[in-house]
Amino acid sequence: MNTKVWKVDKFVDIFESNPHIVDAANFLRENEVVALPTETVYGLGGNAESDEAVAKIFAAKGRPGDNPLIIHIADREHLNRFVKEIPLTAERLMDAFWPGPLTIIFKKKEGVLSEKATAGLGTVAVRMPDHPVALALLRACELPIAAPSANSSGKPSPTSAEHVLDDLNGKIAGVVDGGATGVGVESTVVDCTDGIPVILRPGGVTREQLAAVIGEVQVDPALMDGAERPKSPGMKYKHYAPNAPLYLVSGTSEFFQRIVEEKEREGLKVGVLTTEECEDLFDADVVLACGRRAELETVAASLYDTLRRFNQMKVDIIFSEMFPNEGVGHAIMNRLLKAAGNKIISE
Ligand code: TXA
Ligand code: MG
Repeated sequence: MNTKVWKVDKFVDIFESNPHIVDAANFLRENEVVALPTETVYGLGGNAESDEAVAKIFAAKGRPGDNPLIIHIADREHLNRFVKEIPLTAERLMDAFWPGPLTIIFKKKEGVLSEKATAGLGTVAVRMPDHPVALALLRACELPIAAPSANSSGKPSPTSAEHVLDDLNGKIAGVVDGGATGVGVESTVVDCTDGIPVILRPGGVTREQLAAVIGEVQVDPALMDGAERPKSPGMKYKHYAPNAPLYLVSGTSEFFQRIVEEKEREGLKVGVLTTEECEDLFDADVVLACGRRAELETVAASLYDTLRRFNQMKVDIIFSEMFPNEGVGHAIMNRLLKAAGNKIISE
């Protein structure tokens, strides 16, 4: 399959009448799958009401069928089509964070969406992306769009159209190239179906921001220790992994450097994932600064690109700094721990 690339400017090409947007929307209406930029990561979009389109999403990504997709909408009115009830907490969260990197789990109205999109669950995950191109495309196709991150399953999520093409070129109808995404980690997933809202996946909206709006918010215990079965099906899979094994290092920079040298003596090409502040503390084959520690948003924005760059540099092993588990650091650590298969080396 020839994968089309529509280059758009996210400051200009923001109307549903734009010819590129119209073309991409026509593919979606014909149940083809198209990658699109959002403010978090690129999504692989398909008509959420069509089994055919949703099957194509799962096939292109190689995604396990029991992992449901997030449905993207441009208009809150559309919720009523496929959501059974909208609790007050969800209303308040939507008022505060939509459009934006917050996915809300609702009880599902049966018989509207493809059962494949929701993996047969009685609930549905929905978000309104804060990206003018994504919103224009959603308005142009007038469909609820199911869109997981547009990477091959298990790989780091894509934050540029190049990343999408690295994984999916030839496997999807097209990609709307709107440049690099902003937030860099996926949306926060919050379950609002039962009493106190529960964070199932940390992401672009922080626990602190949620608490400021709705007061009490819980975190799925499975996110803290791997023992419990996560409520969000996708969280149980290995994910975000670069090609080389990744280890998180807890300790002083001297300890970190000793580990690097040990592996280099064994003849391995060693990669270090660090930050601009700490870059000069390390001497290794490949040292990549992933944003600034003092502003964790910059680390989130560069994280997946940095993990992919280690693949290009063909390192044999990667050691990474750790980050504080607060604010967007919660999402960063969640993704790094998954990418590392929870492997931490402590001093
Ligand atoms: O930022 C994002 O959320 C991106 C962009 C493209 O919107 N999308 C994304 O989708 O990250 P994906 O498929 O990579 O992750 C969706 C997550 C998975 O962990 C999945 O298990 C969970 O949402 N999920 C979807 N529906 C659910 C449901 N009904 N109940 C619990 N978890 C659900
Ligand atoms: Mg994903």
